Amino acid sequence: MSEPDIFAPYDRLIEIDILGTKHMVPENNSLLRCFQFLSMEAISYGDFCWNGECLNCQVWLRNGDKEKAVIACRTTVQENMSIVRVADDVDLTEI
Ligand code: FES
Repeated sequence: MSEPDIFAPYDRLIEIDILGTKHMVPENNSLLRCFQFLSMEAISYGDFCWNGECLNCQVWLRNGDKEKAVIACRTTVQENMSIVRVADDVDLTEI
């Protein structure tokens, strides 16, 4: 599994906040791909369908004073996104 095969083409890394820590991830990619970029092993072998069906990739974004649940495999990353909660299957302990 080489990088060009799994990541959408990107020119630069952008900053997002995951559970209170800043991380640099590839623009133009889904949030789940960004998690994979940060934690290749845990996400690659995680229990994910990658096509919007299992909901195991659910995360919650800060949306003003509220939280908004999204499906990470179907949500394109945006600069300064703030992820405040993740589903149990999203193992980010290694990042
Ligand atoms: S990985 Fe299954 S819905 Fe996102």
